[in-house]
Formats: sequence, structure tokens, C-alpha cells
Amino acid sequence: MTTRNVPLNATAAKVDKRPDAIRMAQVGLAGGIGYAHINEVEKNPRFICVGGYDLYPTNSPVAAAIDRIAKGGGKIYRGFEEVLADPEVEAVDICTPHHFHRPMAVAAFQAGKHVLVEKPMATHPDDCEAMIAAQRASGKVGAVQMQHVGQRSMLFLRDALQNGAIGRLREVFLNSLWWRTEEYYARIPWAGRMKIDGAWCVDGVLYNQCVHYINQMLTLVSPGPLPSVARVKNLQCAMYQFHDATNLEAGDTAFITGIIDIPDAPQMTAVGTTCSTEERHCIEILGDKGRAMWNGVGYLFPDGQPATEFHDDHPSPHLFNGNSMIFNSFAQAIRTNSTPLTAFSQIQYVTRFINDCYGVSRWQMKKAPWSATEALFKETIQQVRLHRCLPKDLPAPPVWV
Ligand SMILES: NC(=O)c1ccc[n+]([C@@H]2O[C@H](COP(=O)([O-])OP(=O)(O)OC[C@H]3O[C@@H](n4cnc5c(N)ncnc54)[C@H](O)[C@@H]3O)[C@@H](O)[C@H]2O)c1
Repeated sequence: MTTRNVPLNATAAKVDKRPDAIRMAQVGLAGGIGYAHINEVEKNPRFICVGGYDLYPTNSPVAAAIDRIAKGGGKIYRGFEEVLADPEVEAVDICTPHHFHRPMAVAAFQAGKHVLVEKPMATHPDDCEAMIAAQRASGKVGAVQMQHVGQRSMLFLRDALQNGAIGRLREVFLNSLWWRTEEYYARIPWAGRMKIDGAWCVDGVLYNQCVHYINQMLTLVSPGPLPSVARVKNLQCAMYQFHDATNLEAGDTAFITGIIDIPDAPQMTAVGTTCSTEERHCIEILGDKGRAMWNGVGYLFPDGQPATEFHDDHPSPHLFNGNSMIFNSFAQAIRTNSTPLTAFSQIQYVTRFINDCYGVSRWQMKKAPWSATEALFKETIQQVRLHRCLPKDLPAPPVWV
């Protein structure tokens, strides 16, 4: 799903809401993602928008979102406390910048609300722990909006891998190549920043962009039941900053190697960057009886057997796209006491993984010249994959390491 600048639905068709629809308040209405949530809640019969809140109601995209919510019969709250004090609100949908996820989620649980929070769940393991502690104390549901693990292509591929379609897993490669300009890092005050007012923000390539595919990779290979996120050991990571953006503190490129900590112990090599004019996301898994790949479509190439493709197509595309699947599993968890597809208890391991990447890099972003990005894509990424190592350990390391 393309999420930036998702417009409000121009003509939303009237949807019959289920009698047990979740009564949700939306918070953070119109940045890169708020509109997508408003559209989803409007279309999804499992949710009713009780109201909305944004700290900057007069910003023009926010004002349009407020208008839309009010026209749909929703309340407009003047403060987050007002949202939490409203007994009509069962769940809070948090679409604010990273550093607000922890305080808002904790306060919402303390007020007895369920919480759906945008990715990343949080950008420090301590924040995840605080959120999980508040959730457990409240007995409410906590889930993260990570739409990629809700995609049918991904869920079918995961089933096939669990059924041994390519045998034991030997290697996993992740390329998550994005394009962001310097203007992107200047668009909002928290972009690229490590901390804001003492709170962790860590808005680098791993938490902001690659978090989706890291979660997807670790979910695909996990042998446990859904939701289950594999851990990684023997981690090594090198982080770089190629963009010349003054507020970019948290890195725009990362190379990572490790061993996925599952019984098959496959080797993992991952590259994430926002410096690639060609956006491409690919998870490739080599087994001892074939290979699998996911790049928006799931592919299975078992040795000596025909290949299989898994697509997201469904007769009801709206209710079964990745975005809706996460919302649906959140609603189901609230009503049936099941575990959501992106439960806090598991997604915390994605934050732990990324935090460990920073840790082993000693929180240092090596500055690399923008002129070197050509070498990054022409040679280094292929070489890193070939040798399963960090750039510094290549037989001919690039000049910028
Ligand atoms: N799932 C996805 O694909 C996806 C895509 C984009 C963004 N996101 C995530 O969504 C979150 C928000 O990102 P964004 O790009 O929309 O940010 P943004 O800064 O562009 O917008 C955030 C919105 O929240 C409002 N806001 C800011 N602080 C607030 C506060 N304290 N209380 C209430 N409202 C507040 C802003 O006015 C704005 O409407 C981030 O954590 C980001 O990672 C996820």
C-alpha cells in the first residue's frame, strides 16, 4: 500500500456497520498515514469512528480530515485526555509520530482502551516494555499497524514454508531499497531525528522504512504459530548516512548480517536504504529443497516441482488487503479474546532487533558522500550478498566504509 499522501476517499459509499463494530477514536489525522486509517475505518464494517483528535487542527490537511469525521457524525476532541475520558471510545487508533507511541499507548491502556498504534511500535525496547506492562495491567488488546504481514501472498507463503515446501531453511536475504530525498528529511521536525524532547524517535531507515520488511522476514521464517517473530543472533551491522540532510541523525543505510535463531539457523544478510532511486523490496529464502521469494507476490520454487505463486487477489479486495487484515485481526482480538496478527508481545522483537542493530554499530552513523551512492547500488549490495558480510569485510571494501 502506498501510504504517503493517501487522499481522503472522495465519495465514501455508505457501509453497513456490524452490530458489534469497535467504537474507535482516531488520533493523528492527516500526516503521511492518518488519512489511510480514516478511509479504512469508514469502509470497514467492523469499526465505527466515534471521533478524532489532532494536535494541529487548523493545518489544512488536518482540517479536511476533521471535517470528514464531523460530517460522518464523529466527535472532534480538543485534547487526548478528552478522547480517553470518553466512555463511548473502546479503542484508540494512534497515528502520531514515533515518539508519541509510548506515552499515548500507555495512557490509553490506563484509561481502559484497546490500542492500535502505527509502526514502529516504539523505537526503544524500554518503550515496548512500558507499553506491554500497561497493556497487561489493563487486560486490553495492543496491536501495531504493519500491513505487510496481513497480505495474503505473505501468509500463504508462510504456510508453505512451515509445511516444509523448500525443506530446511539455509539462507535469508532481505533487500529493502527506498527512495527519499533531502526534502523528505526536512518536511517535519521529527524526521531523521534520534531523540525529541528526551524521548526516543530514532527515525532512521530501519525503524521508519525497513521495519515492515524486517517484521515480514522474521514472521515468514518463524516456525511458531502466528503471530510469532523470530529473533536473530550473532548480529553485525554497519550504518551509514549518505543524504546530506542536517536533521538526519539515525542513518539512511544499513547492512546487517546474523543467524536467525530458529532450529534451522539460516544465515541472514539484509540491506536497507533510502538512497535507491529504484524502490525494490525482496525477501529471498534458500532452503535445502528449493527457494522462495516475496516481493509483493510470493513465489515458491521447490526443487524438481512446478513453481507456485501467491497473490493478494481476493473477491473482496478491500476486506482482505494487508491493511484491512490488521484492522480485522485487531477487531477480532477485542471481540473474541484472540491474539492479533501484530500483537505487542511479538512486535517488540522487531524493535529489539533494530535496537540491537544500533547497539552493535555503537550508535554510530558513518558519513558517506552522496557521490558514493552509485557504487553502493552498482557493486556493494551485490558483493555484500555474495560474500554475506558487511562492506568493510569485502575483499575490496568500498572507499566510503
Ligand atoms: N504503516 C505505514 O505504512 C506508515 C506510513 C506512514 C507513516 N507511518 C507511521 O505513522 C506515524 C505518523 O507518521 P506521519 O508520517 O503521518 O507523521 P506526520 O508528522 O506527518 O503526521 C502525524 C499526524 O499527527 C498529528 N500530531 C502530531 N503530534 C500529535 C500529538 N501529540 N497529538 C495528536 N496529534 C498529533 C499531526 O498533526 C499529523 O496530523 C509514524 O510513526 C510513522 O512511522 C506508517
